[in-house]
Amino acid sequence: MPVLEARDIHKKYDLKGREINALKGVSLTVAAGEILLINGRSGAGKTSLLHVIAGLEPPDEGEVRYDGKILNRMSQEALAAWRGAHLGFVFQSNNLLHHLDLRQNVMLPLIYSGYRGDEIEKRADEILAFMGLKERANHRPDELSGGERQRGALARALICSPVFILADEPTAELDEQNASLFYNLAARLASESGIGFIIVSHDPMAAYLGVKPMRLEAGRWIE
Ligand SMILES: Nc1ncnc2c1ncn2[C@@H]1O[C@H](COP(=O)(O)OP(=O)(O)O)[C@@H](O)[C@H]1O
Ligand SMILES: [Mg+2]
Repeated sequence: MPVLEARDIHKKYDLKGREINALKGVSLTVAAGEILLINGRSGAGKTSLLHVIAGLEPPDEGEVRYDGKILNRMSQEALAAWRGAHLGFVFQSNNLLHHLDLRQNVMLPLIYSGYRGDEIEKRADEILAFMGLKERANHRPDELSGGERQRGALARALICSPVFILADEPTAELDEQNASLFYNLAARLASESGIGFIIVSHDPMAAYLGVKPMRLEAGRWIE
C-alpha cells in the first residue's frame, strides 16, 4: 500500500523582509485508502503544508516521501511527472474552464497527458456517473450548481487514476447538502477505490468522512 509521508517539515516565507514561519516541524503519514482531515484557523499553515507535500513548494527542512522515495530531492521535471501520475487536486474554487463542458473539463488532464480517443470519453462518463453528474456532462460550468462544479472538480482529479487526492477547503462555498454529498463521495472513493485523501476543511459536514480531524495551529499540530 503506497504511503505518503511528511517528516518534520519546516517552511518559512519572507514577506517584505519579515520572516514568517508557516510550518514549524509538521509530520504526517497517510496510506492509500486512508483519509487525513486537517483543520485549523486561517493562517495556520494548512495550504502551505499541502503545497509542500505536493512538491509545489520545497520545504526549508524536512522530507516528503512517497513509498520511501524522497520527493524533495527529485528534479523539478521528475517531480512534475510524479505529481501528474500520483496526485489529484481539488481547490476551494473549482477552476473548471468556463468555455468547455463538464465532460471536456474532466477529460482535460488526460488530453494534456497526450491521450486521445473514445476510451477517455468513456472513462470521463463513468466517473461523472459515479459522481451523480451523468445528466450534466454537456453543461458548461456556469450551467451547474456550486455542488455540481465541486463534484466535477473531484471527477477531474480522478481521471488520471491518482493514488492520493489533496483537497484544500473543497466545500467552503457549498451548502450543507452539497458538502455532505461531496464528503460521502470522498469516503466511498477511499474505501471502494483505495484512494488516499488529505483534506483541509473546517466544514462541520466533513464529519461525513468518518475520521477524527487533526488540528494545525501556528504551524504545529495541537491536541
Ligand atoms: N507565498 C507566501 N509569501 C509570504 N507569506 C505566505 C505565503 N504563503 C503563505 N504565507 C503565510 O504563511 C502563513 C500560513 O499560510 P497558509 O498556509 O496559507 O495558511 P492557511 O491555509 O492555514 O490559511 C500565513 O501567515 C500566510 O500569510
Ligand atoms: Mg489555506
